[in-house]
Amino acid sequence: MGKKTDIIILGIESSCDDTAAAIIRNDLIISNEVSGQAIHMAYGGVVPELASRAHQQNIIPVVDLAIKKAGITINDISAVAFTRGPGLLGSLLVGTSFAKGFALARNIPLIEVNHLQGHVLAHFIHELSVEKKDPEFPFLCLLVSGGNSQIIIVRDYLDMEVIGQTIDDAAGEAFDKCAKVIGLPYPGGPLVDKYAKEGNPKAFIFARPHIPGLDYSFSGLKTSFLYFIRDKIAINPNFIAENQADICASLQETIIDVLMTKVKKAAKETGIKTIAVAGGVSANSGLRQALINAADKHGWEMHIPPFKFTTDNAAMIAITGYYKYLKGEFTTQDTTPYSRVTLK
Ligand code: KG4
Repeated sequence: MGKKTDIIILGIESSCDDTAAAIIRNDLIISNEVSGQAIHMAYGGVVPELASRAHQQNIIPVVDLAIKKAGITINDISAVAFTRGPGLLGSLLVGTSFAKGFALARNIPLIEVNHLQGHVLAHFIHELSVEKKDPEFPFLCLLVSGGNSQIIIVRDYLDMEVIGQTIDDAAGEAFDKCAKVIGLPYPGGPLVDKYAKEGNPKAFIFARPHIPGLDYSFSGLKTSFLYFIRDKIAINPNFIAENQADICASLQETIIDVLMTKVKKAAKETGIKTIAVAGGVSANSGLRQALINAADKHGWEMHIPPFKFTTDNAAMIAITGYYKYLKGEFTTQDTTPYSRVTLK
């Protein structure tokens, strides 16, 4: 059961449509459970009220499973860490209330975690029998998910600064919304990735934003994509079916190009050559390849986490909880979730 000095954290994540719980012993993950919510597929996006209801049903079984799979008892848990935000308020409330009740009942510290910080610190999760090198500080992290697109300078575990972010849609949203235009089910990002593999990325040209500095914008691409498809269908009603692979490849190429342009600019401006990627969109095979190619070309040290730690998960909340525990950064029972917040 580990040494007496071991710190064992229960991590809880419920910010969107995944109910997740994980147990970490120091920086070593010993269980990582997630229960997704298929119900949203029928609606083409996450329905907040349905997400909250599903979290209520899932939270106890998921936590129970995480504790059992870790081979520990609740008496072994040193502290409970939970996602305070950003996310959907009703969803966050379920995880927050559960964590507060758990900490109170067990008389153990309660640790609040910023979901975005969790995505970044996923790079420091260790697994039994898996060799890995942690990124060295300072590094740049491209955080790309369904709700966020940011470039962050990470100076230390709990010292991060956002140097660029989207002024409208996130990269994942651009994937999902454009996928919806061509009739793909939610979330469309992974499907665009799949079909893009067979297509020509230069087949069609879509609008690229011209935003100064290191910020992103994806709403113009979404509009240009929508008009493009509408105009093509007016001429040929079978346009989508006949060109699906080329449409997906060209769309993906555009999003990757937009993301990479600013990452290269950030690396150049800061002189930082250790680059990491985090968030659900980092699962994209084209983005991964583009990052690897750029790393080769520019002499970067690239850090790409395993897929299971890039989408929403509780292991990243538990590892952040661990580093906050070491610093004594605990919160109190009067804490409340926040739906919108950025990194400090
Ligand atoms: O981090 P994440 O799991 O959670 C949210 O932010 O909600 O990211 C989910 C996002 C969705 O927009 C999804 O379409 C996108 O990540 N995504 C992908 C791929 N896998 C997930 N986008 C493009 N290619 C993929 N392979």
